[in-house]
Amino acid sequence: MINLGILVSGSGTNLQAIIDCIEAKQLAAKIKIVISNNANVYAIERAKKHYIPTFIIQDSHFPAREDCDKHLVEILKSHSVDLVILAGFMRLLTPAFIKAFPLKILNIHPALLPAFPGLHVQEKAVEYGVKFSGCTVHMVDEGVDTGPIVIQAVVPVHEDDTEEALAKRILKEEHRIYPQAIKFFAEGRIEVKGRKVIIKGCRKIEGALENPKVEIFE
Ligand code: GAR
Repeated sequence: MINLGILVSGSGTNLQAIIDCIEAKQLAAKIKIVISNNANVYAIERAKKHYIPTFIIQDSHFPAREDCDKHLVEILKSHSVDLVILAGFMRLLTPAFIKAFPLKILNIHPALLPAFPGLHVQEKAVEYGVKFSGCTVHMVDEGVDTGPIVIQAVVPVHEDDTEEALAKRILKEEHRIYPQAIKFFAEGRIEVKGRKVIIKGCRKIEGALENPKVEIFE
């Protein structure tokens, strides 16, 4: 059983997906604390509904971001957290935080990294005209969305997509792959070799996707 500390800044649908998998006994983990940098987000309500301890951290109460992160580390360590989960946590972490949990911080990003790092990425994918996008669970390093990739899911981007429609399609996949990535970690199946994440005992997938559908070679 691993102990999770989950950092949130928004509606918390990924948090909910993780809670649901734990409650359904699909994931052997305990959420020790949910931390937000905003007291008014629905993610905090979700945690409270499931009797999970919560904590609000306000950057403005600290002289520097680094001091805030050191405090965050203290809170997470005092709850014996083994793995830190960024679930829509919308602020960058300083090296002090990342060094305190080496290869023990996961993030979910709503694009197929290394394409479209940063913010507003569903809108950028629609505007760019890519035919596929998706989501990525990765380990957090000191860059922005640059850490080793654990698992990705691909979704089509349609010609008439809006940012909202694509975000909804991607979010559905986020809710599948994030609990799965945590499960890989909890089962000790993740090994990091340089940039690469090796997951022991995985089935390989075959075949290809195309969008739009190729018709002449069917
Ligand atoms: C998710 O789409 C997640 O991938 C994204 O924020 C959303 C949070 O939704 N994270 C980022 O963009 C991080 N750069 P949620 O609060 O409903 O889980």
